[in-house]
Amino acid sequence: MKSVVAPMVAQAASDGSRISLRRHIKTLMLALTASALLAVHWSSSDDNLLPRLLSSSSYDDAPFRSGCAQPDPLVPSKDSDLDQAYNHISSAAFRNATVRRLSGAVQVKTESFDDLGAIGEDPRWDVFYDFHRYLEKTFPLIHEQLKVEKVNTHGLLYTWPGSDASLKPTLLLAHQDTVPVPPETVDSWTYPPWSGAYDGKYIWGRGASDCKNQLIATMETLELLLEAKFQPRRTVILSFGFDEECSGLRGASSLAAVLHKRYGDNGIAVIIDEGSSFEQAWGTLFAKPGTAEKGYLDVPITVRMPGGHSSVPSDHTSIGVLSELITKIESAQYPTRLADSNPYYTQLQCGAAYSPDFPSKLKKLLLGRLQGWRRQHTCAGKPDQLALEAAKQGPAIRYLMQTSQAVDVISGGVKVNALPERATVVVNHRINVGETSRVVKDRLTALAGEVAARHNLTLHAFDGTKAGQEPPESITLETNEHELEVAPVTPADGSDAKSPYAVLAGTTRALYGEEVVVTPGIMTGNTDTRHYWGLTKHIFRFSPGFDPEDGPGLGAIHTVDEKVSVLNHVNMVQWFVMFVRNMDEAEV
Ligand SMILES: *[C@@H]1O[C@H](CO)[C@@H](O)[C@H](O)[C@H]1NC(C)=O
Ligand SMILES: *[C@@H]1O[C@H](CO)[C@@H](O)[C@H](O)[C@H]1NC(C)=O
Ligand SMILES: [Zn+2]
Repeated sequence: MKSVVAPMVAQAASDGSRISLRRHIKTLMLALTASALLAVHWSSSDDNLLPRLLSSSSYDDAPFRSGCAQPDPLVPSKDSDLDQAYNHISSAAFRNATVRRLSGAVQVKTESFDDLGAIGEDPRWDVFYDFHRYLEKTFPLIHEQLKVEKVNTHGLLYTWPGSDASLKPTLLLAHQDTVPVPPETVDSWTYPPWSGAYDGKYIWGRGASDCKNQLIATMETLELLLEAKFQPRRTVILSFGFDEECSGLRGASSLAAVLHKRYGDNGIAVIIDEGSSFEQAWGTLFAKPGTAEKGYLDVPITVRMPGGHSSVPSDHTSIGVLSELITKIESAQYPTRLADSNPYYTQLQCGAAYSPDFPSKLKKLLLGRLQGWRRQHTCAGKPDQLALEAAKQGPAIRYLMQTSQAVDVISGGVKVNALPERATVVVNHRINVGETSRVVKDRLTALAGEVAARHNLTLHAFDGTKAGQEPPESITLETNEHELEVAPVTPADGSDAKSPYAVLAGTTRALYGEEVVVTPGIMTGNTDTRHYWGLTKHIFRFSPGFDPEDGPGLGAIHTVDEKVSVLNHVNMVQWFVMFVRNMDEAEV
């Protein structure tokens, strides 16, 4: 994962009911693990296990529930060989074997670096050959029976053709690379970062949860189904990039191009990639498949001014002028606005419908919005009261509904006795759902225009002027290759039984129980899916493993002591096996 996964509420807000709910979930999980069947979920005789929380609502939640329909648990039809294979996943033998296989994958040091040279020239790419050999040795059936393609040398594409070519394929993504381990942090790890150490509960190491776990879980899924002689109607594809941590420009982009050529626009039924997972909020456990990503925009800004000796300075140097512009940029923030298409709007409805601790003020505003008050309020350019109230939960929530700006890099000046001829900053932006990069560019152009006019500088705003070629006495605004618009929002209507979202949600509730509320989530960072937009509208960034003992949250991705619990991993394998079978039977 390239960046942060968005929370639903600030941590403190969810602490209250955490303990009791956790106990319920734990009990559920014990029941699940003990059970040999696919179709385990709450039955009425388990009444004492049911969280009372759900039924305690004293308000009319119908208007909220209709915006957050929960499909029934979905299990594939009975098949003794396949069911047996599924049950095998919860055995000690499988657990031991998959621990070994994931641990081995973590031990291959597939670090990604921002400054990697060309493939075939920079030797740091060669480790991916080792990784491929490891997968070949570890998953023999996949490599014997499926079509295996190497795309742009290190991209991996596995195709298991279905018997019915009219059904669009199920596509599962993961990335082979990991972020590097900074050498100065190695000593801080509990176990060495490339050890894949197993302590009886966790597998430790870089990549253990981002995302060799998901890569191995999807491989386990296909290997198991091949062994059980599954015969898919619907084609199943695995696609593994190798530079996701550097935007996927070589890996995912090449793989997506091959798939696009093969299957065409909207030629894929559904894509699952790494992403958000489970989270406690307002006293409820939510599963949050990511259905949207904020946009991304870096804007380098350069001021060029005449040089000269600092004993006879101008009143303002390029550094001073740039500072003036930075002050203007930071003097106001982008508005907090919740578009109807923003998944956080659905999350609020889910919270209002199912969560005992959902704040009443928020509920009132939400009801108003659902009943159409908003149009009168926001069309006149008035503040979005619902968004502003929700934003009080903290900045992590606010930025689900607001374009962010951060002045992150600055340079200028070379010597104390020389006036700086050039000063540059880079401002990073994550664009709100419902807005575009144009909003940011227009605002910066206006602010830079004011400063340029005051200092008699010419303005070059996004006119193609290249870095290093800015004309003298100018302010130049540029963009770089990381520019990315807000992702198309994936449809997420749980009441539409024929939607991939309903299959995903039904699978999740079959595995983890009906007290889990599935809601679409939003990512403030980006994954490899950015390259796959043309292939399907149904893209989910979802890490479906969950360990109730562990609680929600990611296993220290991108930092010291990255790890994944084995129960989380084993549940992830179960989820994928069930999902692939459910998709095979679904009319989507
Ligand atoms: C799994 O591994 C543990 C040690 O880690 C061992 O005690 C146990 O017997 C193994 N179980 C099976 C079924 O292989
Ligand atoms: C800007 O240029 C105009 C003439 O081109 C001049 O009159 C004015 O004084 C200049 N202002 C500054 C701040 O240099
Ligand atoms: Zn990742």
